[in-house]
Amino acid sequence: MKIWFVTVFPEMIRAYLKESMFKKAVEQQLVSFQVWDLRDFTTDKHRQVDDKPFGGGAGMVLKPEPFFRAYDRLKEIQKENPFRVICPSPQGKLFNHRRAVELSRGADLVFFCGHYKGIDERVMQNLVDEEISIGDYVLTGGELPALVIADSIIRHIPGVLHSYESAETDSFADELLEGPIYTQPREYRGLNVPEVLLSGNHQKIEQWRKQQRLERTKERRKELLNEKIEKNDIGGKNG
Ligand code: ADE
Repeated sequence: MKIWFVTVFPEMIRAYLKESMFKKAVEQQLVSFQVWDLRDFTTDKHRQVDDKPFGGGAGMVLKPEPFFRAYDRLKEIQKENPFRVICPSPQGKLFNHRRAVELSRGADLVFFCGHYKGIDERVMQNLVDEEISIGDYVLTGGELPALVIADSIIRHIPGVLHSYESAETDSFADELLEGPIYTQPREYRGLNVPEVLLSGNHQKIEQWRKQQRLERTKERRKELLNEKIEKNDIGGKNG
């Protein structure tokens, strides 16, 4: 999978791509990232990417031309290869686990990172396939949400995660939150690991884990459980 970031702050993105899972995914040639500076697609001396909104009002708007030129370049590079343009925005549909999995199985991705007041609507209407929000709050720019979305997508590409950090057992993999986990030592400052985890009885451990996940979801995110009940999805061999 190829992922582009088109941004006025390329270093913000590059800093993150140099570390951890992003770095490993590139080394293993499972994903390739391209970070494009929006200013490289300007044609004026000042490399201007923004201007005042028509009709007045506070803030600056990202101009359409650099995005259209970047898009033309993408078309040239991708030829017949499909790609999907995502614009992180509080106006988008709320992102979730399911969408992350879907996008990990789909076309190459391009993130148009907005800034200031937003991006000229002609870009949104004609080039952007999908606006995605990462939550009901407003961030300063699209770089962090683009990285959040990309992170949650690429961990579903086979081979990106090691088995010990398997995506299948994550919170939300079956629409439940994850339960508590423990490691050595068994006892620390009088705080003990639950007995059942030391029992060696795998069936009992699995039952306990499922129960913990259900209880935690009920306590913290009851709406997730209600959705699951509606879908008749609670039950199975571990209760
Ligand atoms: N840009 C600014 N705020 C955002 C949000 N909540 N989600 C996605 N993109 C954004």
